[in-house]
Amino acid sequence: MSNDNLQEVVKQKYGSAAKQVAAGGVATCGGGAESTCCDPITKDLYDTSQTSALPKEAVAASLGCGNPTALAKLQPGEIVLDLGSGGGIDVLLSAKRVGPTGKAYGLDMTDEMLALARENQKKAGVENVEFLKGAIENIPLPDNTVDVIISNCVINLSGDKDRVLREAFRVLKPRGRLAFSDVVVRGEVPADIRKSVELWVGCVAGALEEFEYRDKLFSSGFENIEIEPTRVYKVEEARDFLAAAGLDVEKVAPLIDGKFMSAFIRATKPFSRASVVGPSCRT
Ligand SMILES: C[S@@+](CC[C@H](N)C(=O)[O-])C[C@H]1O[C@@H](n2cnc3c(N)ncnc32)[C@H](O)[C@@H]1O
Repeated sequence: MSNDNLQEVVKQKYGSAAKQVAAGGVATCGGGAESTCCDPITKDLYDTSQTSALPKEAVAASLGCGNPTALAKLQPGEIVLDLGSGGGIDVLLSAKRVGPTGKAYGLDMTDEMLALARENQKKAGVENVEFLKGAIENIPLPDNTVDVIISNCVINLSGDKDRVLREAFRVLKPRGRLAFSDVVVRGEVPADIRKSVELWVGCVAGALEEFEYRDKLFSSGFENIEIEPTRVYKVEEARDFLAAAGLDVEKVAPLIDGKFMSAFIRATKPFSRASVVGPSCRT
């Protein structure tokens, strides 16, 4: 599938998810797996102390696979950018953390998600938030202007991850931090099986292998790269979905178990590119 086609499919899926929430439902990622695809991945990511202060539609639209705002150590006055902000849950939480002297931007390409996020901002009554329309492969912000870039289960959806990481590097200030939650694959998994599991995890997904992720971050100029598993998935959780996809679950279980995870990915932009040392990031 070309990148343009992939973006259209992703827009359609998440456009329908946003409409489900606007109609009073809970977001699922659509396709043929409405009832099963997201649950073990998206459930229980946020404390009630965080969600109780948010509009219920922002919580219902949550389609992430982690809680990057909890791990990103945001400080008052900082500028935060959320790549693929969806219904806005992480943007609203970030806005609270950076306070009135800071600002939280959300970036999303899907009109229905942006409409939902802007409505959620109104309901939450927060002013230090701006939702921007655009692709994460072409971030509509100037160079060196953002302190922290967060993202929740979106990088795996991009057909051009190198470009996303280069763009993230460009807009971050020197010493700026990247704090992503994302789906990551650990080790080799046969391509057809990998595709089915990824569909279960991320609806339309292309998760990177752990070392590939590190290499891409390193090649984009980042340092202090860390990938920390936050949830490792068991084949049991995807049993029905994989069986419906025609896979012999018992046979493929050893090839899948423990290899797919939600992870927290951290990295920093060096003060100057010249401060990046060493031939490899696999330390
Ligand atoms: C899995 S949802 C996650 C939404 C949000 N981060 C959350 O935690 O609820 C993916 C979101 O990313 C957006 N998205 C996917 N690919 C994108 C791209 N290439 N550029 C901009 N937005 C994108 C989709 O429109 C959707 O709103």
